[in-house]
Amino acid sequence: MAGARTSRIPEFYKKPMEERRRIVAEFAGLTEEEVKLISNFGNLDPEVADRMIENVIGAMSYPLAVAVNFLINGKDYIVPMVIEEPSVVAAASNAARLMRRDGGIRSRATEQLMIGQIQVVKLKAPYYAMALVLEHKDEIVRLANEGHESLLKAGGGARDVEARVVEGPRGPMLVVHLLVDVRDAMGANVVNSMVERVAPLIERITGGRALLRIVSNLADRRLVRSWVKVYKEDVGGEEVVDAIVDAWAFAAADPYRAVTHNKGIMNGVIAVALATAQDHRAIEAAAHAYAARDGRYKPLSVWEKDADGNLVGYLEMPMPVGVVGGAARVHPVARVALKILGVKSAAELAEVMGAVGLAQNFAALRALATEGIQRGHMELHARNLAMMAGARGELVDKVVEIMVREGKVSFSYAQELVKKLSAEGEADRGG
Ligand code: MEV
Repeated sequence: MAGARTSRIPEFYKKPMEERRRIVAEFAGLTEEEVKLISNFGNLDPEVADRMIENVIGAMSYPLAVAVNFLINGKDYIVPMVIEEPSVVAAASNAARLMRRDGGIRSRATEQLMIGQIQVVKLKAPYYAMALVLEHKDEIVRLANEGHESLLKAGGGARDVEARVVEGPRGPMLVVHLLVDVRDAMGANVVNSMVERVAPLIERITGGRALLRIVSNLADRRLVRSWVKVYKEDVGGEEVVDAIVDAWAFAAADPYRAVTHNKGIMNGVIAVALATAQDHRAIEAAAHAYAARDGRYKPLSVWEKDADGNLVGYLEMPMPVGVVGGAARVHPVARVALKILGVKSAAELAEVMGAVGLAQNFAALRALATEGIQRGHMELHARNLAMMAGARGELVDKVVEIMVREGKVSFSYAQELVKKLSAEGEADRGG
């Protein structure tokens, strides 16, 4: 049928961006204004955007904010965060302000080891094949490192080989792990190229077939540990300390709560990941798998009361991040964000992100264990609604004040108030 809408568009990726946009506009019936809106690349060069991913038709801006007050390992940080959710940045800054005593939050990253996996199938004797792989460990590591001079020069490179026989639904298979110190890169690329390189050697050694050759996102050899003491008077007294520990105990006992608890941690972690253009899906995937590593999903942090009645917290999670290569180097805003942060290495970035996650978690638990999070949220929510309803400047404050005072926070009421207050303003000016 002539003019029928179809999403089957041959060689869409080869068309100039302008044309891709026109096709989409036609398909979706976009107005000129809507096309103009998505064509605004803001602080990203359209050519850079077009090289970053495929089929680009525009760009989308998110607010870039900073959390202040962070003192981590005795060093001050202003932390860039990109996030769409209100309250997160304010909560992080507030929490960090209460965590500045005794040198602030402590944070230590482990070695920056990533794991590359090689799945070996069609083996007659998988255990014997495993032994042969381990016997040839040095040769495998040597081959993996060929062509990675700059990583070796930076002190990184493939370090070790591990192997397991895994029972699958289609019988046993051999799983070979290549352990790679990726230094300041996120590392997926270098690990993927290494496992692809050594796979034929592993086939020769085992006589099997190397099928998948890919990084593992369960980055459990690349952890960050962050810990902090918050003095009871800064928490709001020993009763609040107890309530926070009880709130943590809920997460420790119940996966339904643990997921939300960890989501609060990820609010901070992912906001920094976005600002610095990290692969945030990798961080998310690793975090949740790590939380469930014992077979039951658990909180990534622990909150306790120490002998003096103060609150002490500990967080441990994988943190696969990079400061060289990848989008962190390509996106100009990510480069500025890294400069604001002033981190020199992936390990330092991981340490900051762990600390932010811990602070964010504290802020959420304290709010939940005391007044609840809705009061603060409501005001910010009301502010968003007022803006969506067209309020600007002082009118926003007025609309928010009325909605919160009356406990009626809704879009329709915001619209009603904007209309009413604007009309009153007009009348005042007119008269
Ligand atoms: C909301 O984005 C995050 C919280 O739900 C986290 C938590 O419940 O701990 C407040």
